[in-house]
Amino acid sequence: MEKLVIKGGTKLNGEVTISGAKNAAVAILPATLLIKGTCKINNLPNISDVKIICNILKELGAKITWTKPNEIIIDTREINCTKAPIDMTSKFRASYYLIGSMLGRCGSIEVGLPGGCNLGARPIDQHIKGFEALGAKVTVGQGKISAKSSKLIGTSIYMDVVSVGATINVMLASVLAEGTTTIDNAAKEPHIVDVANFLNTMGADIRGAGTDVIKINGVKELKSEGTYSVVPDQIEAGTFMLAAIASKGNILIKNCIPEHLDCITAKILEIGGNVEIYGDSIRVSNNKRPSKVSVKTLPYPGFPTDVQPQMGVVLSIANGTSIINESIWDSRFQYTAELNKMGAQITAQGKTAIFEGVDKLCGAPVYASDLRAGAALIIAGIIADGTTEIYNIDHIDRGYENIEEKFKKLGANIQRINE
Ligand code: EPU
Repeated sequence: MEKLVIKGGTKLNGEVTISGAKNAAVAILPATLLIKGTCKINNLPNISDVKIICNILKELGAKITWTKPNEIIIDTREINCTKAPIDMTSKFRASYYLIGSMLGRCGSIEVGLPGGCNLGARPIDQHIKGFEALGAKVTVGQGKISAKSSKLIGTSIYMDVVSVGATINVMLASVLAEGTTTIDNAAKEPHIVDVANFLNTMGADIRGAGTDVIKINGVKELKSEGTYSVVPDQIEAGTFMLAAIASKGNILIKNCIPEHLDCITAKILEIGGNVEIYGDSIRVSNNKRPSKVSVKTLPYPGFPTDVQPQMGVVLSIANGTSIINESIWDSRFQYTAELNKMGAQITAQGKTAIFEGVDKLCGAPVYASDLRAGAALIIAGIIADGTTEIYNIDHIDRGYENIEEKFKKLGANIQRINE
């Protein structure tokens, strides 16, 4: 079992380069199933979620070659299996994107039911509603989902909730459908735009991604031999921005898209930090105790739920009492119990947490309950007095490439130890 051991008390200083976006990559890789040919994907984050989806694609018949640490060539000419391994897919949330892609490619797919995870209930009713509206028959039972269709036909679909996954999945299923599909009340996250850009690069006709109405004009086929570069990770950039604030440091965050970070920048300015924006980089610095603030997570362009725990660390040491209202997930405050072990004073109840700012955190053994909770605990360890040991770090490796190397380069004393 591996753990991270951090000797705290560091002000982070220097430069960090942001990797490609996890949540775009885990959708773009299944989207390659819509192509009967090859394509090259670069700026692909080298994280365990990407490796898992590559292994699942191989099981379906794709050939994958890593040409560089962050570049692969995928050959999807021969897809010869429509049953994705249940054990691999049921542990991995984004395996639901195989449904939209394989419905488009083969008209049939069976995957393990993506289970609920540490964030609370994660229904997929909107995905199913979209597939059925396009003409697919979807059955759920015995721990798996099967979807079949002899022909998908474009239609209008209104999403009852703003859902990243359902928006992308319905987009995937519609690319090769007959006629036009309209998704109303679509999610607008940067990774949705990125998946649409990838598909358009390969010959799809998708308009409006990034707004709440997306139109997909079905095309007969996608072309082969394209190259695509995954968008920089908004959430990884946000994580380092908040690490700079929490540690009273100064970090130049390179390879990011500053507009994607506006919602985080606005909160950082409110708590007294500094943000300087350049073309594709952003400098975040801070030299005083953060001020209290109220935060409510919302779909993009609102404050992202995926940086809520990292913001929680900042507010745990802020001057005064802050409140975070989590409006996306039912159970995203598990990290607050770990921060309390480090001396924080946080009361979390339901979807609200109250942070009574303390002067400092102290190192302790803590457990990452999920990916972003893990990132938050790293920041907490870096600013705490003494030594912090973080367990369950496989959650962190799912979504952050070379995380301890990146923090080490900024001055953190952090080691990965194999017990
Ligand atoms: N929802 C439904 N029905 C559905 C789908 C979603 O009620 O059919 C609800 C959910 O329960 C939730 C809300 O809608 O309350 C939003 O869920 P969404 O579908 O947008 O989330 P997701 O697609 O399952 C993605 C990211 C998450 C991120 C959320 C919100 C991926 C693989 N995952 O999940 O990322 O928190 O969007 O932005 O893209 C992470 O990276 O740490 C992470 C958890």
